[in-house]
Amino acid sequence: MTRRLSNSPSIILGILREAALRKAEVSGENICRGLGVSRVAVWKHIQTLRRHGYKIEAHTRRGYRLHLAPDCPSELEMTPRLQGRRLGLPFRYAAEADSTNRLLTAWAEEGAPEGAMIAADTQNGGRGRRGRKWFSPPGCNLYVSVLLRPAVPPPQVPSLALAAGLAVIRALRRVTPTLDPKLKWPNDLYLDGRKLGGILCDMRAESDHVHHVIVGIGLNVNLKKSVLPAELRETATSLRLAGRLKINRPALLVAILEELEGVYQPWCQSGLTHFLDELRACSWLQDKPVVAVLPHETLEGVVTGIAASGALLLKTASGPREIHAGDIRLV
Ligand code: BTN
Repeated sequence: MTRRLSNSPSIILGILREAALRKAEVSGENICRGLGVSRVAVWKHIQTLRRHGYKIEAHTRRGYRLHLAPDCPSELEMTPRLQGRRLGLPFRYAAEADSTNRLLTAWAEEGAPEGAMIAADTQNGGRGRRGRKWFSPPGCNLYVSVLLRPAVPPPQVPSLALAAGLAVIRALRRVTPTLDPKLKWPNDLYLDGRKLGGILCDMRAESDHVHHVIVGIGLNVNLKKSVLPAELRETATSLRLAGRLKINRPALLVAILEELEGVYQPWCQSGLTHFLDELRACSWLQDKPVVAVLPHETLEGVVTGIAASGALLLKTASGPREIHAGDIRLV
């Protein structure tokens, strides 16, 4: 379960961060005064921060200096970056979760507000679409779920995965401009023809009312090939593998939230209408011949676009078809 820290380490971290920007140390004395606690208490909080991966040097006369923050979407790293955001707050972090979607579903049932978010460093029961497992090793990727309570008719909700996918693509274009990530209908993120991530939306609704939607995002960020199990080695990738980039996970998560905020209101008002050109432009399947495995039939055709409903548009030998659910393979 998620565990919360006392506020003092995060206040001290704020003081150290501010000083680090000026390449300065902060004396223990000043921290004691600022916080109204003893020197021993400050020392203990510094030790706590070090245990969380912060590299803090202590000089006898000059004081403490922050040298390195861990690349982890923890409360300590995320909270200062989330101030004033509409999505991402309230925030909880779990070093290990079974599934962030499952944790957030439980929190939603207890009444968590729209925007609530849970991130985990690793998942031991990460879920993908159609009951598949989501490979979730520690220390390298993003596993995050955001709670939305959209006032839209329930049949509109399946298209949210595409809007959220587009938000992730926009964030990646900003953070990793040399890469060309694509969306593979209905919920996959692709890079160089390999799976980079995926979106899993879990909805609780009645016939005419959406209680909540959990938008779960899994993204392979700094994953190394040696960590991938053999069955994923030829089909999965990460930003690091494809771009030789080491990405700061908290910064990438904030970019994703910003873009999610940007697509969410327009999507609530008019679904995918405003995004169709952009979706087409970043679709991995656009104009490609595919096989669509549907619940009761298998179709062959060429992808012509995405409909405002979120359906995949296919040109088949027997005419145009709209695909609402199914697995799509390139021919
Ligand atoms: C897919 O491509 O099948 C969707 C994968 C979604 C994985 C994410 S990781 C965070 C969230 N928690 C889960 O258990 N699943 C989603």
